[in-house]
Amino acid sequence: MSDLPLRRLGRSGLSVPVVGLGCNNLGRTGTVTETAEGATALIDAAIDAGVTFFDTADAYGARPGLSEELLGAALRGRRDDVLIATKFGLDLHGANGQDFGARGSRRYIVRAAEASLRRLGTDWIDLYQLHAPDPATPIDETLAALDDLVRAGKVRYVGHSNFRGWQVADAEHVARGTGGAVGNSGTGGTRFVSAQNKYSLLARGLEREVLPAAREYGIGVLPYHPLENGLLTGKYTGGARPDGSRLVTTKQQLLDTAPWAALDRFGTFCRERGVTETDVAFSWLLTRPEVSSVIAGATRPEQVRGNAQAWTWTPTAEDLAELDEIFPA
Ligand SMILES: NC(=O)c1ccc[n+]([C@@H]2O[C@H](COP(=O)([O-])OP(=O)(O)OC[C@H]3O[C@@H](n4cnc5c(N)ncnc54)[C@H](OP(=O)(O)O)[C@@H]3O)[C@@H](O)[C@H]2O)c1
Repeated sequence: MSDLPLRRLGRSGLSVPVVGLGCNNLGRTGTVTETAEGATALIDAAIDAGVTFFDTADAYGARPGLSEELLGAALRGRRDDVLIATKFGLDLHGANGQDFGARGSRRYIVRAAEASLRRLGTDWIDLYQLHAPDPATPIDETLAALDDLVRAGKVRYVGHSNFRGWQVADAEHVARGTGGAVGNSGTGGTRFVSAQNKYSLLARGLEREVLPAAREYGIGVLPYHPLENGLLTGKYTGGARPDGSRLVTTKQQLLDTAPWAALDRFGTFCRERGVTETDVAFSWLLTRPEVSSVIAGATRPEQVRGNAQAWTWTPTAEDLAELDEIFPA
């Protein structure tokens, strides 16, 4: 197993490798990772390459819970060597019982956590994330329920996903005021230590509010769609449409609307520097100190092996300025 550099997840004590593996392909219909065999081959390759941080969710897979089950099975016997992040809070259409549209509620969270632990075949979740804001439940109730899970030893750290800037600030201040003893703020209850939001060279909206909030509050950012579903790997440029690839099989509309002129320029930029598009997509994200780990998804072992090397390019100030021109903020 090779070693990847580690970064702290915000100002928490948790260190994560700079490259993780997003697991929303596990159990996804039409992928090679749809089966236990394909999923295990991918996880084995990841661990061999030093990618020991796995991000899943109870919602991922052809049916709710399938990605968690495949991940748990693939990690059996290696639990102590890896970090598992999962999420709750999307509509599972009853798979976690009736939710009354309040999936940040104490009632729902306890049940969702128990179900995820069971499916993952583990006694603890390293990072438990609220997948999306729950407008029906006050954030203090959500934080208090998560605090209880931390105190019970079922969850180590908690994070949020798809929060807006004001929601990041609101949750931080509520956590500071809840008066619990667990957590990292010194005075408050368990606080969110990570933010998982869409962020890539092609999607820079996060830089407006969430990134500054993450910096201010010491929250580690875990960008999702860091490769824009594969568009930023270069494999679709020049009209290429690889068989079985995600954009060809399920997200054709992204191919129809992609900014091809910018992507062609990006390809030239990478060739001139002797690096791959994926190298630049990863390394650019990691120039942001707020970003703790790039959790790209993958379907094949060779992809995850490549991604495990993709953090090594060091851009100059001129490189960064040119990337800003190609993909304006
Ligand atoms: N919190 C949220 O709301 C949310 C939303 C979406 C995702 N996520 C999380 O973020 C993770 C990352 O997002 P994502 O997987 O959807 O998007 P992504 O990382 O932008 O793209 C992943 C896709 O890129 C392709 N790929 C990856 N490495 C490659 C390589 N080296 N060469 C060529 N192609 C490569 C694979 O496509 P093929 O399938 O074509 O092989 C893979 O399925 C997810 O797995 C999930 O854990 C979170």
